[in-house]
Amino acid sequence: MTTIARRPRRLRTTPAIRRLVAETRVHPAQLVLPVFVADGLSEPNPISSLPGVVQHTLDSVRAEANAAVSAGIGGIVLFGVPEPDDKDATGSAAYAADGILNRAIAALRAEVGDDLPIIADTCLDEFTDHGHCGVLDADGRVDNDATVELYVRQAVSQAEAGAHFVSPSGMMDGQVAAIRAGLDVAGHSDVGILAYAVKYASAFYGPFREAVGSSLVGDRRTYQQDSANRREGRLEAALDELEGADLLMVKPASHYLDVLADVAAWSRIPVAAYQVSGEYAMIAAAAERGWIDRQATLTEAVTCIVRAGADIVLTYAALELAGWLK
Ligand code: PBG
Repeated sequence: MTTIARRPRRLRTTPAIRRLVAETRVHPAQLVLPVFVADGLSEPNPISSLPGVVQHTLDSVRAEANAAVSAGIGGIVLFGVPEPDDKDATGSAAYAADGILNRAIAALRAEVGDDLPIIADTCLDEFTDHGHCGVLDADGRVDNDATVELYVRQAVSQAEAGAHFVSPSGMMDGQVAAIRAGLDVAGHSDVGILAYAVKYASAFYGPFREAVGSSLVGDRRTYQQDSANRREGRLEAALDELEGADLLMVKPASHYLDVLADVAAWSRIPVAAYQVSGEYAMIAAAAERGWIDRQATLTEAVTCIVRAGADIVLTYAALELAGWLK
């Protein structure tokens, strides 16, 4: 007779035992829902490449925020989609007080107060007629420092509209330090910064471009990171922490778990990861075909992102997951 002293299978025997020994638990409070609010819509507009996700009206986004509060999720990230005629070379609708994003922030803050952290995307790409995340110089290159000045303006306008956090996602150098200083000077030292610290130039953003009606031709490889690079993620995260970020983000999530684990091991501030549009859409599409199980796959994907070290996960399935996790 063989005796095997150490039998790991013993702890897998029943669902209750597996639950007892689970090393990772996903809680609704750590899930954040990204939402799109479009100008000039009379009713919500489905996004074909993101099944189950819509461009909201100002009314429907209020209802979504109330659903988020009821579900007990951790926060909401707002993206604005201007009318095509409102786009220009400098993305001025991004920082106009009556721009769609600032109106949506104000509407949500009036609706939910402090019950749900409101996180504003701070970037110009939805608002520029060329679709880049910044302004272009005479040679057509994205001008880092001129762009950062506009991010500061946008962040201050978002704080004034009622955002709890601004969230610079454009990957300009020095953006976090400049925004922190700009917010403080404007009297918004309580408004936090969720920094897209480690953000790769990724093909997984495809459906997002439809969601925001992006005008981009080409790519963002001169400002977003190369997916070949891991060490560089530590540099980007370190810089944003030192520049004054309150929360760091790694993006995309599932194919970047090594980078996420690095940042989580090292960071002294909370770390978020963004399960981006393409990651969600692949699961949604395969599930629609009956090739995989939607609930099981989304739950596994988000559990693995948390296991790798994320304290917070941004996911288009946040409300659905919160229901399943009950
Ligand atoms: C840019 C931004 C993007 C996403 C979030 N903020 C697109 C990009 O960088 O090209 C992508 C999010 C997603 O794919 O879900 N402001």
